Amino acid sequence: MIGRLFGYVSQRVPSLLYRVSLMMKPQVVFVLGGPGAGKGTQCCKIVESYNYTHLSAGDLLREERAREGSEFGQLIANYIKEGKIVPVEITINLLKKAMEETMQKDEKKFRFLIDGFPRNEDNLQGWNTVMDGKADVKFVLFFDCGNEVCINRCLERGKSSGRSDDNRESLEKRIQTYLQSTRPIIELYEKHGKVRTVDASRSVDEVFADVKAVLDKEG
Ligand code: ADP
Ligand code: C5P
Ligand code: MG
Repeated sequence: MIGRLFGYVSQRVPSLLYRVSLMMKPQVVFVLGGPGAGKGTQCCKIVESYNYTHLSAGDLLREERAREGSEFGQLIANYIKEGKIVPVEITINLLKKAMEETMQKDEKKFRFLIDGFPRNEDNLQGWNTVMDGKADVKFVLFFDCGNEVCINRCLERGKSSGRSDDNRESLEKRIQTYLQSTRPIIELYEKHGKVRTVDASRSVDEVFADVKAVLDKEG
């Protein structure tokens, strides 16, 4: 009798745990900074040492641009080249789908670094509308880097990236978009004490040392 009961319980426990974990709300860190500040580089390093999944809004948009049959391909291409922010309806769906797919594959993967989002008021409103109550934003990891350093890094990256926006003309527009649209979003989070700033103008390893200190403290 006891044996049968034990067998019953041990069979039930994993499915119970599985259900609890399915209820785990995504824990999100927004990663922001100018173009070339090193967001992608640092996110890759975080993923190596911490249990986070890296989702770059820019990468998702570039994938969607390249997807055969995408109704948004041309629009995305135009926006990227012009350094403008794609309407959030497109971006939020890509992010939500990527988060859901990640959690469906592995229920333990509920921590996300969302890189390059929210980049303007429209992005933020879209997030609040679609994700309100569905995910917790822990904080914003802000890579602070001067415009000149950002531009030079992107021009260097442009030698091999093949990106349509890693050229001086697009970069000037991207910097304007960053200053006019993204900085106010960072300032908004700052007012709520939710920004963790790292000086991103130093070497990759020096920046990462600070990133680690932030993540170790935040848990
Ligand atoms: P972002 O995702 O913020 O646009 P990336 O991580 O793609 O930036 O970095 C932009 C370019 O600068 C890449 O070529 C990368 O190798 C380089 N890079 C990144 N971090 C540093 C750093 N701390 N010092 C020098 N170069 C860097
Ligand atoms: O972050 P990344 O440099 O990859 O972004 C490249 C471009 O993708 C941006 O300049 C912008 O045109 C587009 N983008 C966007 N909305 C986001 C993130 C990126 O429109 N939230
Ligand atoms: Mg990037």
